[in-house]
Amino acid sequence: MTKVFGLLGHPVGHSKSPLIHNDAFSSAGMDARYHAFDVKPEQVKAAVEGIRALQLAGCNVTVPHKIAVMDFLDEIDDEAKQIGAVNTIVNQGGRLIGYNTDGRGYVESLLEELGEPLADKNILVIGAGGAARGVVTALARHGVARLTITNRTLEKANALLDIAKSLNTEAEAISRDDAESKLGEYDVIINTTSIGMSPNTDESPLSLKKLAPGTIVSDLIYNPIETKLLKEAAQRGGRTLNGVGMFVNQAALSFEHWTGMKPNRQRMKELVVETLGGTSC
Ligand code: ATR
Repeated sequence: MTKVFGLLGHPVGHSKSPLIHNDAFSSAGMDARYHAFDVKPEQVKAAVEGIRALQLAGCNVTVPHKIAVMDFLDEIDDEAKQIGAVNTIVNQGGRLIGYNTDGRGYVESLLEELGEPLADKNILVIGAGGAARGVVTALARHGVARLTITNRTLEKANALLDIAKSLNTEAEAISRDDAESKLGEYDVIINTTSIGMSPNTDESPLSLKKLAPGTIVSDLIYNPIETKLLKEAAQRGGRTLNGVGMFVNQAALSFEHWTGMKPNRQRMKELVVETLGGTSC
């Protein structure tokens, strides 16, 4: 019987997940299909019950349902609990188990770019929303010693400080002005906000005037592949990391939860970049 996997989100029309998962299933010789389901917010519970009723083998969950689905699952893994959001559901014989692969997907993409240990790096995170929560949790779980968070609304950064501290990572929240003036102190700068995402491609979350050459500047955004922030970073001698790696890694980790197999991440990357009209990752 064909195994069916799905994406629960709203909207889902532009998602690249069906493309890369269906390709990975074919490459693995699996009789499986992945379909994007547009689920309205008031129908999240019915959609999760639908996973059981229709015996879907697994799902991804995306904006805006990553928090709402948690109430209807049978079990939630520790990292997803710490992040407070689920992006992957595994149907284990009718029991639905929730995971979150976003944060780890990001950290793996950063490690690939860095090519050296992360623990002692001085890291600045821009933003304190859901995406930041995933990144901060994964960095802290990875053993990063110290984190700085800057956010428009400083109080929201405080919740993230608590997560980091509970995982033995020192953390402080600073204003955007302070972050801009101390920019040269950071080894890695990570934008987790949607500032600069298509169609608002002329916006940037931070001025990079004081960027030290060699600093890694990383954007979770992958549409456009090179945001204004990354363009400016490259012009100032920074090393840049776009959001394609995180997107592909979170998908690959979901695929591993569902199948126990590792998909070809390079091929996934190429497919995403090709359909976004870019030339490199
Ligand atoms: P996500 O789940 O994508 O992280 P979110 O939880 O709504 O989305 O968080 C969005 C993040 O981007 C927040 O840190 C938000 O700042 P606030 O906490 O002050 O709202 C930040 N953000 C979004 N638009 C912004 C803007 N125009 N200027 C500054 N920060 C912005």
